[in-house]
Amino acid sequence: MAKILDIKNLVTNFYTYEGVVKALNRISFSVDHGSTFGLVGESGCGKSVTVRSIMGIVQEPGKIENGEINFFPDPEGPDSGMELLSKSEAFMENLRGNLISMVFQEPNAALNPIMTIGEQIAESYCVHQRQEMIQSILRPDSGSDLPDSKRTGDCGVTVFWFLKPLYKYSLDHPDSMVLKILKKIPLVSRWDRGVMKMAVQKSIELLTVLGISNPENIVCQYPNNLSGGMKQRVVIAIALASNPVLLIADEATSNLDVTIQAQILELLDDLKQRQIISSILLITHDLGIVAQTCDRVGVMYAGNICEIGSVDKIFDNPKHPYTKALLESVPKISQQGELKTIVGNVPNLVSPPEGCRFHPRCEHAMEICKTAAPQLETIGLDHQVACYLYTSKS
Ligand SMILES: Nc1ncnc2c1ncn2[C@@H]1O[C@H](COP(=O)(O)OP(=O)(O)OP(=O)(O)O)[C@@H](O)[C@H]1O
Ligand code: SF4
Ligand SMILES: [Mg+2]
Repeated sequence: MAKILDIKNLVTNFYTYEGVVKALNRISFSVDHGSTFGLVGESGCGKSVTVRSIMGIVQEPGKIENGEINFFPDPEGPDSGMELLSKSEAFMENLRGNLISMVFQEPNAALNPIMTIGEQIAESYCVHQRQEMIQSILRPDSGSDLPDSKRTGDCGVTVFWFLKPLYKYSLDHPDSMVLKILKKIPLVSRWDRGVMKMAVQKSIELLTVLGISNPENIVCQYPNNLSGGMKQRVVIAIALASNPVLLIADEATSNLDVTIQAQILELLDDLKQRQIISSILLITHDLGIVAQTCDRVGVMYAGNICEIGSVDKIFDNPKHPYTKALLESVPKISQQGELKTIVGNVPNLVSPPEGCRFHPRCEHAMEICKTAAPQLETIGLDHQVACYLYTSKS
C-alpha cells in the first residue's frame, strides 16, 4: 500500500536548564494511505513530540536535530512526495490545516470563545477552500433557472452580474491587494459575503455529517454553550473543513466520558470508511481504543519505537516485553484478581538508561541490554521489534 508518511531516524531534543531532554531517539515508522495508525505508550514516552515534529510545531526549547519526515499527499503520485524537515516555516504553515490537520486533547484551547461555532468552521472553509467555493459559485450548472445576471448558485448564493468579474478575478489573483481594498466597500463587499454564506451552509452540512442534531441552531452558538463531546466534534469539523489528507488526533478523546469517547471514535472510523478522511494518525495511551480503531500500531517507550505491526500482530502475538506489559495492564472483562502494573517509571530523558532504555524495568534484561541499544528489525510480515530476545546482538 502507498505510504502517506514515512519517518526515518527522527531525533528531537529539548535544551532545558536541567540538561538535554532526549525526547525522540532516532524513531522510524510509516503510515499507509487509507489507514489508521495508532501510536501508544505511557505518559512522557514521546507521542506528542512525535506529532509536533511532523507538524513543525515543536515548542521551545525543542529542536529537531536529525532525520527525515517524508510526506506523500497523493497516493497515485509517490514522486510528488516532500521532505518536511527541509521546508520553510511559510510552507509548513500552509501545509498545516491544509493537507494535514490536527485535533488536540483540549477542545477549549482550539476554540475561540467569542466567535460562534458557524463563524469558526466557516473561517476554516474560507481559509482553505475559498477557491473551490468560488469555482462552485461560478459553475454554470449550479444555478436555478434565473437569468444569468442574477443566478442563484450552490447554497443559494446570489451572483449579480457585476460581481461575476470579481469572482473570476479572485480565482486568478487570490491574494490581490485590490480585492482586499474592495472588501471594505459596503456594496462591493457583497461578493465576499457570498463566499461566507456558502461556507456557513457547508459548515451546517458538515455538522450534520458529524452527527450533530439541529446544526442550524448550533452554528449560532458560542463554544461555552456546548458540552465537551459537542466541542470536540466541532474541533473535528474545523479540522475537516480544510479537507486534509492526514488527520492527526492527539489524545482527542481522553477528556471525554466513555460513551462520548466511543461515539467520537466511531465517527472518525465512519469518516474514514466514507473516505471523508483518507488517513489518521491516532495518539493514545488507551490500548482498547487502538484495538477498536487502528489498522497498525507503533509502541513507544522513552523516546524509542520498540515494536510496530498490524493490530492483530501486536495484540495476538506481542513480542517486546514492554508491549506485553502494556497489554497485561489493560483490564479485561474476564479479569480475576489484581491487575498487573508495569514496575518502575518511564526514565528521565535527560539521562536515559544506556543500551535498551527499558532494561531497568525488564525482567529479561541481559548484559548486552545495558550497553547497546537494540535496533528495530523485521521479525515477520508487517512486524518489527527492537529487542535482543528476537534481534541480532551484533
Ligand atoms: N516543552 C518541553 N520542554 C522540555 N521537555 C519537554 C517539552 N515537551 C515535551 N518534553 C519532554 O519530552 C518527552 C516526551 O514528551 P511527550 O509530551 O511527547 O510525551 P507523551 O507521550 O505525549 O505523554 P502524554 O501521554 O502524557 O501526553 C518528555 O520527557 C517530556 O518531558
Ligand atoms: S532488549 Fe533486553 S532489556 Fe530491552 S526489552 Fe529486550 S530483553 Fe528487555
Ligand atoms: Mg502527549
